[in-house]
Amino acid sequence: MATQPPHNPHEKIEKNIGLMAVLIAVVVSFGGLAEIVPLMYQADTIKPLPGIVPYPALQLAGRDVYVREGCYNCHSQMVRTLRFETERYGHYSLAGESVYDHPFQWGSKRTGPDLARVGGRYSDDWHRVHLIDPRAVVPESNMPSFPWLEHAPIDGKQIAQHMRTLQTIGDPYTDAQIARAEADVADKTELDAVVAYLQALGKHAPRGN
Ligand code: HEC
Repeated sequence: MATQPPHNPHEKIEKNIGLMAVLIAVVVSFGGLAEIVPLMYQADTIKPLPGIVPYPALQLAGRDVYVREGCYNCHSQMVRTLRFETERYGHYSLAGESVYDHPFQWGSKRTGPDLARVGGRYSDDWHRVHLIDPRAVVPESNMPSFPWLEHAPIDGKQIAQHMRTLQTIGDPYTDAQIARAEADVADKTELDAVVAYLQALGKHAPRGN
């Protein structure tokens, strides 16, 4: 006579793929939430580092150009906590540096070098020449040229609106700053803006490795 198998509480789940799928989703999302939610409240991930402020108008315009031109396809902005990275670029990136980056430009694709610490490494003139024709200063470079930036004016109204939008999502722009934005970028080109943005990258990062 066949003996009855012992009662198995898992049997119900194992024979019901729908129920199993739901329970798997619950378990997996619980694990994800337990990792992610505390970060949303942890001070050192949501508080700006000292000196980190929302991008001034010209830098914000430059950042918009950076995103539009897809510079992130070749450049990351995140120094990892590995010796060979900190030796090359400087202090590893901290979450408090990116509080006002919407969206952040961390990335992982590095056809060119990481740019998180590039501010101040070269002169403004070097950047201008490099962006217009990279091979004029780095003969072996395969970075594309961006010659049109030199002649492209900045839409000051749009920058002011962008700042207003960032203000509504919580970036501490003052109304005076927004009112001044159009004047701040008047007569500037997109090239001026990108250079201003690049020169500010990593300027308030912790020093040393
Ligand atoms: C197709 C890939 C590619 C794209 C797109 C690209 N770059 Fe580059 N970039 C490179 C490479 C490769 C280098 C290293 C050679 C050189 O310095 O030109 C580099 C170097 C640089 C450097 C010098 C970094 C250093 O530490 O020496 C800066 C600054 C820079 N790029 C800015 C930009 C900006 C701003 C954009 C967008 C407007 C951009 N790049 C788009 C590939 C790219």
